[in-house]
Order: sequence, then structure tokens, then C-alpha cells
Amino acid sequence: FKTRKRTNIISTISDERGDEPKYCGVAISELVQQQADLGEVISLLWFKKRIPRWASKFLELCITLTADHGPCVSGAHNTIVAARAGKDLVSCVCSGLLTIGPRFGGAIDEAGQLWYRGINQNIPPYDLVESMKKLGKPISGIGHRVKSIHNPDRRVQLLKEYAQVHFPDTKFLQYALEVEKITTQKGASLILNVDGCIGALFLDAVVNSGQFTTKEVDELLEIGTLNGLFVLARTVGLIGHSYDQKRLKQNLYRHPWEDVMYANDEE
Ligand code: ACO
Ligand code: LMR
Repeated sequence: FKTRKRTNIISTISDERGDEPKYCGVAISELVQQQADLGEVISLLWFKKRIPRWASKFLELCITLTADHGPCVSGAHNTIVAARAGKDLVSCVCSGLLTIGPRFGGAIDEAGQLWYRGINQNIPPYDLVESMKKLGKPISGIGHRVKSIHNPDRRVQLLKEYAQVHFPDTKFLQYALEVEKITTQKGASLILNVDGCIGALFLDAVVNSGQFTTKEVDELLEIGTLNGLFVLARTVGLIGHSYDQKRLKQNLYRHPWEDVMYANDEE
């Protein structure tokens, strides 16, 4: 009989041992032949599923719309400072990526969890807002530094427009919009932000695609899959910012004294 050596690694998403790589069982030549888009590749490698074209196009739209948001946001700022310190591409990009988190770009999973819980547990949007207030926690997916009801986020509008045309149903988005109605009464900047909108529409896409069981949707949220979209998208912009600074031959950045309030105790 054969004795098999115990493996140190288990992998279930890809296999490169044949004459061409397979993404979750699908050969790359098959993907090329079917003119598969990036959204389909993401779905195979992240969710191990083939999703309908309207859903994969939605994933691509998220990438397109959040690839960059100018030089002033946390991620781009860090990348720019690192590039000006003469660091290599990977360091510059990592420096920017490391700012993605609960306040910036990485609120998608938590927002998704709130909308998911809200719908599944029948929590009226008002109660959700109040419960977060009691906990003293900001509602993930709500609020923006520069966007507001007076200066709407075009990215959110475009995502909503796509969903209206292509999604069979948008119950999670509708729930998030009900929450927004309440929060914008408290403050004009407390809009449904791009993270919150992606979180809601991602759930609508996944649930409506018919490819995921309830257990699988729970698992997606539990392992924090949604933030991956922002990480992937913004990497495109961060690479751009690094190249931009290097092309411009920008020198070492030092923050101006005038912009710091030195409030030292001994003075
Ligand atoms: N839920 C409830 N109240 C909020 C929220 C929120 N999400 N955001 C801000 N507020 C309230 C604050 O409590 C504060 O109230 P107060 O004046 O009574 O103290 C007021 O609004 C202003 O709060 P700031 O923290 O000064 O607002 P700021 O503009 O700095 O915050 C931010 C912007 C960080 C996005 C914030 O709204 C937030 O934490 N949102 C949740 C996280 C999130 O969704 N981040 C993703 C943003 S989009 C992106 O990065 C691509
Ligand atoms: C972004 O996409 O980087 C943001 O929405 C954050 C911002 O402050 O613009």
C-alpha cells in the first residue's frame, strides 16, 4: 500500500501544475475564449464561483470607480510621501495600502454586516441608527469628509444607476438608503458613502446571483471579503501616484512647521 506524506498546505482556488493554470478548475484559455472579464476572475479566485455577467460587471465597476480619489486621501498621501523618500514601488504601494481600514476604504465589510443584519433580523433602520448611537460607534458606510448631500458622491450615484438597470433586486441598497435618510437629518455629510454603497450592492449581487447559499454569504462576511474590492481598486491608483512622483522627480517631503501646532507641555 502507498503511504502518503502529509501536506503542509491545502489550496483550493488554483492549480498551475498542468500545461496552463486553472482558476478554480477553469483553464485560463477557456476564460480568454469566453472573453471573461476581471470580475469573473475575481469571482473564481475569491468566491470560487462563476457569477452572471451583470454581477461580474458590477465588481469591475467598483474597481473602476474607486481606483483613485486624488492625492489628498490617506492612502495616496502615504504613497506620495514614501515615493518622495526614494522608496521602491512595492514599499510606496504598501505604505498607502496600510492606511485602508475602518475609517478609510475598509468599512465595506462592516457596512455589509450592518445592512445584512438589519434585513435578516428585521431591524427598522431607525433602530439600527439608535443602537449604534448607544454603542457610541460610527455607522460603517455612512459619512464622508468632503462629500455631502450638497456635494453628492458621483461614484455612489453611478453604482446606484448600474444597480437600478442590471440588478434583479436591491433590498440591501434600499435598506442602506433608509439609514442614510435618517443620518442625513443629523448632518449633511452623513451620506451613504462609497464603502457603504458597495457593501449593500455586493450583498444584493451575491444574493441575487443565485450562486451562494445563506451559509456561504455568512462566511463571506465573516472572513471580510468585501474590503478586498477597495484594496484591489486603490492599488491601481497608488501605483499611479508612485509613478507620478518619480516622474516628477519630487524631493523628500517634510511637513511644514506652520501646519503643526506644537503644544508641548513644557512651554
Ligand atoms: N455614524 C454616525 N455618526 C457619524 C458618522 C457615522 N458613520 N460619521 C461621523 N459621525 C458624526 C460624528 O459622531 C460627529 O458628531 P458630533 O459632531 O456630534 O461629535 C460628526 O458626525 C462629525 O464627525 P467626524 O468624525 O468629525 O467626521 P469626519 O468627517 O471626520 O469623518 C469619516 C469622516 C471618517 C468617513 C466618518 O464619517 C466615519 O468614520 N464613517 C464610518 C466609516 C466609513 O464608512 N468610512 C469609509 C468612508 S468612504 C472611503 O473611505 C472610501
Ligand atoms: C476615497 O475614495 O479615497 C474617499 O472616498 C475618501 C476621501 O476622503 O475622499
